Parts: sequence; C-alpha cells; structure tokens
Amino acid sequence: MQAAGAPDAGATGEPLRVLLCESSELAERGRAFVFDVLQWRQPARAFALRFDGQVVGYLNRCVHVPTEMDWQPGEFLDADRRFILCSIHGAAYEPSTGHCVGGPCGRGRLVTLRLAEESGKVYWYPSRDTQPIDAAF
Ligand code: FES
Repeated sequence: MQAAGAPDAGATGEPLRVLLCESSELAERGRAFVFDVLQWRQPARAFALRFDGQVVGYLNRCVHVPTEMDWQPGEFLDADRRFILCSIHGAAYEPSTGHCVGGPCGRGRLVTLRLAEESGKVYWYPSRDTQPIDAAF
C-alpha cells in the first residue's frame, strides 16, 4: 500500500484533488496503486488501475462481502488480465465499469472513484462519501 499525496485545492478554485502517482507507475493491466481512504468516515482502501489505456479507480471492497479483493498487494486482475477478481470467493468485475460479471457479487458494482490523468500524473477527486484519510470534518 502506498500513501496518496496531500490534497491539492488548486490555485483557481478547481475541485479538491489528490495526487496518487505518476502515470508511468500504472502499466496496462498491471499492478494497481493501492491507497488509504475514508469511506463514510471509516478507514478503507482503494486502488487505481490502468485498463485499455484508461485509469480507473475503485474502493477495494467486494460487493459480496465487504472485504479487500487483491490476492497480492495491488494484484486484482485474473490470470488472463481480463477481469478484476475477488480473491476470497471469486467474484469477477468488468475493469472498465466495475460491474459484476460473474460469481457471488450478483448484480452489484464496485464503488467507483473519480480519477483523472494530467501532465503525466494520476489524480483522485474525492467525493462526499470517499475522502482522503486526513480530511477534516
Ligand atoms: S468476498 Fe468477494 S467474492 Fe465473496
């Protein structure tokens, strides 16, 4: 697990964002960048992953049972590098959308985080529900 950067309020009033990592750290269908967040004010983990060229972000929490999914730190994809696979009971999720496509997750969907790439860096835009660990209340 790696630490996310400090929140960046932006000089021109753009929404709060958090620097996660360099774009080059996220290889296509490679290891994810895992970071700490507060989900509804409770400690949790999230991850950023590159899939089909896009950087996607989700809470590291299976829909089936609220537990972390990676089988090794930052390793979420199945052997074919096609689906996000929960290591506990095998739920499979579409990496581009977070929708469950098989297994005990039913019709569920991973909690999506809003990420963006800019000038070779990956940023996270926190939401009301998912905040940086040092967020003030
Ligand atoms: S806990 Fe993830 S598939 Fe059951």
